[in-house]
Amino acid sequence: MKYGSGIAAVDHYVNHDYDSVFGMSSQFAAIIAAHVMKRQSQLGIAGHMAEIGTFEGRFFIAMALALEPGERGVGIDTFEWPSPKVRDKLLSHMQRLGVRTADMTVLTANSADLTSADIAGPLGGLVRFFHIDGDHTPKALTHDLDLAYAIMHPKGVICLDDMLHPGFPLLTVAVYEWLQKHPDMRVFCVIDREDIVAAPKFMLCRHEAAALYEQDLLDNFPEWHFEAASQWEQWVAIVLTPHPRFAVVE
Ligand SMILES: C[S@@+](CC[C@H](N)C(=O)[O-])C[C@H]1O[C@@H](n2cnc3c(N)ncnc32)[C@H](O)[C@@H]1O
Repeated sequence: MKYGSGIAAVDHYVNHDYDSVFGMSSQFAAIIAAHVMKRQSQLGIAGHMAEIGTFEGRFFIAMALALEPGERGVGIDTFEWPSPKVRDKLLSHMQRLGVRTADMTVLTANSADLTSADIAGPLGGLVRFFHIDGDHTPKALTHDLDLAYAIMHPKGVICLDDMLHPGFPLLTVAVYEWLQKHPDMRVFCVIDREDIVAAPKFMLCRHEAAALYEQDLLDNFPEWHFEAASQWEQWVAIVLTPHPRFAVVE
């Protein structure tokens, strides 16, 4: 399937070069994320992007290519797994795939040791799109959510990887508990999996910002809309999946 976000550089990368960057995020999710970043630009929501758990840069490069001139990105990773060479791979993929490297900061750090100021510092402003894909323990995810929340644009989006992954069932509990403490925030979209190595993502924003994104996603991707929504007690989130369908009951 050819995927399209509406940003030519992202669409070329995702459809032609994505597999040349080893990683764990799906093409489908990269396209939805880039579309949301395009929507932000159209709405005048300017800001930077950040990622915890950048690895070789598969998803990071898609986000970097979705930035407007003057916007910056920061990629954070311990860059230890499977070896420190992973950082060199990231840098060479960014060069090869047309990322404005001068606008990118690659931070070798454990996010547990960082403050929000450490992330906002190199960016010089608020973050409009923050992807969290680092340490997959509930405690670390809660910390990373706190980092992102403190520096997010009021209409910005936090995107969480590996939600509903069979290997990390308690991450969803951590998100739910974090949302109880941040009633201004909600999940507005579940981006479904393509495969077990590219599990669903949640996209979160403030309640009042959800309307900026929801209908636009439904208008642009009706063929991927799973009509039974995602239930969050006080609200529902839309579900986008590459293969929307219900079980056939004979
Ligand atoms: C699943 S990989 C990320 C995949 C990548 N985002 C992609 O789209 O292909 C998870 C990454 O998180 C990094 N990581 C794990 N714990 C971390 C921590 N506490 N701080 C920063 N990075 C961490 C790992 O080194 C690893 O590179």
